[in-house]
Amino acid sequence: MADKSKTATLTIGSESYDLPIYSGTAGPDVVDIRKLYAQAGVFTYDPGFTSTASCDSTITFIDGDKGELLHRGYPIDQLAEKSHFLEVCYVLLYGDLPSPAQLEDFESRVTNHTMIHEQMMYLFRGYRRDAHPMAIMVGVVGAMSAFYHDSTDISDPWQREVASIRMIAKMPTIAAMAYKYSIGQPFVYPRNDIDYASNFLRMCFAVPAEDYEVNPILSRAMDRIFTLHADHEQNASTSTVRLASSSGANPFACIAAGIACLWGPAHGGANQACLEMLREIGTPDKIPEYIARAKDKDDPFRLMGFGHRVYKNFDPRARVMKQSADEVLDLLGVENNPTLQVAKELEKQALADDYFTDKKLFPNVDFYSGIILEAMGFPTSMFTPIFAVSRTIGWISQWKEMIADPQLKIGRPRQLYQGATKRDYVDIENR
Ligand code: SDX
Repeated sequence: MADKSKTATLTIGSESYDLPIYSGTAGPDVVDIRKLYAQAGVFTYDPGFTSTASCDSTITFIDGDKGELLHRGYPIDQLAEKSHFLEVCYVLLYGDLPSPAQLEDFESRVTNHTMIHEQMMYLFRGYRRDAHPMAIMVGVVGAMSAFYHDSTDISDPWQREVASIRMIAKMPTIAAMAYKYSIGQPFVYPRNDIDYASNFLRMCFAVPAEDYEVNPILSRAMDRIFTLHADHEQNASTSTVRLASSSGANPFACIAAGIACLWGPAHGGANQACLEMLREIGTPDKIPEYIARAKDKDDPFRLMGFGHRVYKNFDPRARVMKQSADEVLDLLGVENNPTLQVAKELEKQALADDYFTDKKLFPNVDFYSGIILEAMGFPTSMFTPIFAVSRTIGWISQWKEMIADPQLKIGRPRQLYQGATKRDYVDIENR
């Protein structure tokens, strides 16, 4: 926390209250209101947390006006181009680029934790085959606390480290198993001789009846999608993980809470909702109708994959994803993919419309990702599980940072009460 060189003065009636202002290494200053209620007897009011910093963090910085995203200071476009997902995991988890030896050790530790307890297979059998894979992931990840007791004591730094590696390593396995279960195919075990993204593709698409060769174009695209979704400051699901962890709950239960929050169409579920929207639009001539609906206050329809709480410029991840969509579809020989054509025309028409530009609504990470995932062979129901696989490193990194903070307190917001004031109970015979 930087020095308290500046102070804000809040005047309520005849009383004034001095509130310290802190500056970070980048981004807006913060006004420390922790003592406000004790001093002034009032709460601040910020439903949706549009102006609230919930914590200190050194992991990810977003400049919404510039459309800039940094992980431990490294720009996302450079990481997407030059790094790979497990190295990005190392950067997020430990704070800097690894040496070759550090990277080799980290990748080896993750690789050797990719299998799940054999008995967990039976958890899948309890679900209907048509269960959404996110419903399975919430359940199975939460159940990990029943199988990995030796890494649930959050006061033990070693157990925190083991739980972190286990989560990063096992999420692809669980997501792939959820997919296989939904299509009635046998589970495919992970392998130790292929990279993280290739392993995930193989666990999803290999069948016992024949050998499976990973397409290097697909594994590079998969790895880049993992990198682009890895972490994003204090978004809804990360804030959920932090709040759950603040009570001392075990890491697996907290990650399960994050998965549940990510599922929503306003958050990680937008990639599935966006592709379904693009399919519903179908052809470019229908775009004006949908843009009109998105602008209509009386119509709940919103352009999925558009807009963002923080970005008031292009989401830098969307730029990389759009370029990747062109490359992957071209390399896969998918000529003139109709969904991609609709997406590009929709983006063009929306960004030519004052409604979107005045409200600073641009494509976000979810606008193009579904097009690539669909071209790779995934059903829309797997889009958000893939987001969850990637975001696990973000949740875990933020969780570790919070648990290690000596100032850790349980998160317990207050409210503006608008309900009935005190009144006496009336017996039923008198009502
Ligand atoms: C993710 O937080 C993160 O970092 C999330 C994420 C991550 O990596 O973790 O980046 C991942 O969740 C990306 C966002 C995915 N969601 C969608 O694409 C769903 C569609 N977008 C919206 O629902 C919306 O833009 C949100 C939820 C993303 C942001 O909502 P805000 O910040 O609360 O903004 P808002 O709802 O107050 O909207 C401001 C105005 C409103 O109009 P007015 O009431 O001011 O007249 O913009 C309008 C909204 O109606 N608006 C849209 C719109 N998004 C906002 N209008 C049409 N289409 C949209 N998509």
